[in-house]
Amino acid sequence: MLPPIGPYSIALPVAALLMASRVASAATLPASAAPGAEARVDQARRAYAASCAMCHGDRGEGLVAPAIRPLPVTLAEARAIVRAGRGEMPAIPSAQLSDPVLSLILADLANSE
Ligand code: HEC
Repeated sequence: MLPPIGPYSIALPVAALLMASRVASAATLPASAAPGAEARVDQARRAYAASCAMCHGDRGEGLVAPAIRPLPVTLAEARAIVRAGRGEMPAIPSAQLSDPVLSLILADLANSE
């Protein structure tokens, strides 16, 4: 079954491959014990780079997917989109991206331009 031809239909499979190849490095990110604000931003950005950047751009400025910095939806909506997927965005399960790390990513996207 072929998806309809859309703006993302060529770039997305490429991005999905990139994502798959980066899952291994994302899994080895150190889980900081009690991170301070700076460490949280650092961890959020590294996790973003591993899980979101290949579609949404290095800083969330948009690439093959829409810009998400600053976050255009509420934190709860963003969490639901990441977990369930939407349109051509695949769902990202907690086995691949933990809830606490997803929270760090979304807080960083919401709190910066
Ligand atoms: C494989 C590519 C891909 C990856 C990886 C990806 N996204 Fe997306 N994302 C998309 C696409 C495509 C859309 C547009 C979906 C639609 O509405 O059709 C989208 C939409 C969104 C939206 C809604 C934007 C809006 O304007 O309403 C949010 C929020 C979002 N993504 C967050 C994330 C976060 C956070 C990550 C990383 C944890 C991530 N995405 C990873 C492709 C991706």
